Amino acid sequence: MKRKALYTVAACGVFLLFLAAALDTRLRMVTYEISTEKLEQEIRLAVLADLHSCAYGEDQRELLDAVKAQSPDAVLLAGDIVDDMLPEENAWTAISALAADYPCFYVTGNHEWWAGETERICRTMEQYGVIPLRGASMCFSTANGQVIRIGGVDDPESGALDAQLAQVGETLDENMFTILMAHRPEGIETYRQYAFDLIVSGHAHGGQWRIPVFLNGLYAPGQGFFPTYAGGRYDMNDTTLVVSRGLARESTKVPRIFNRPELVLIQLTPIS
Ligand SMILES: [Fe+2]
Repeated sequence: MKRKALYTVAACGVFLLFLAAALDTRLRMVTYEISTEKLEQEIRLAVLADLHSCAYGEDQRELLDAVKAQSPDAVLLAGDIVDDMLPEENAWTAISALAADYPCFYVTGNHEWWAGETERICRTMEQYGVIPLRGASMCFSTANGQVIRIGGVDDPESGALDAQLAQVGETLDENMFTILMAHRPEGIETYRQYAFDLIVSGHAHGGQWRIPVFLNGLYAPGQGFFPTYAGGRYDMNDTTLVVSRGLARESTKVPRIFNRPELVLIQLTPIS
């Protein structure tokens, strides 16, 4: 009897540990290293996607400290930073601090369009010093003089994706490493009409439920069940797609399972 009770307690303990691991929503860091002949110096890019106005400690310290620890050259804000349902304060606390310390580039996500105030959100981004990329691209130079081009398009909710993509595509220079920021990864075949070296997206939230090794995401908006581009790095012949699993926590009714919110660092390294 005593032994049976011990087994029961042990089984409960294991189950609780499993549950805690499955529902863990602590921020994690993910790094992708991409080597290219188009660079002479390393560039470090922090990617924040799908914050959805969620909170990461007092004054967003947890998130801001995680970014600072990576010493990025720039921050890419890949859409749905502001939520359409939650108050915006947490998003602006993070944005104001990030923009004070790093060059920041932003593209809109669907929830910012659903909020119905995309223009105001973009204006507020600009007031903090963030550059919204809406069918535009620009050369970005790091402190050590390495130049890349960063372009971006609005979410398809804008109705302007194709036109904006063409505008960004026209600016491509095959000798310069060029990044496209586009919120939705499922548009990858459309984006691949143009020779971007790297495409950065979010939106899929890691497919919400994952089973490590076996299942990289159960469901993602725009892709349905068993999404191809739920999160991670996808190397293709002509480009690399990086999909952030995003930072959404309390904004989502359905819990994340084995799918910790993530801050992504993209490390662009020269091939010597
Ligand atoms: Fe989204």
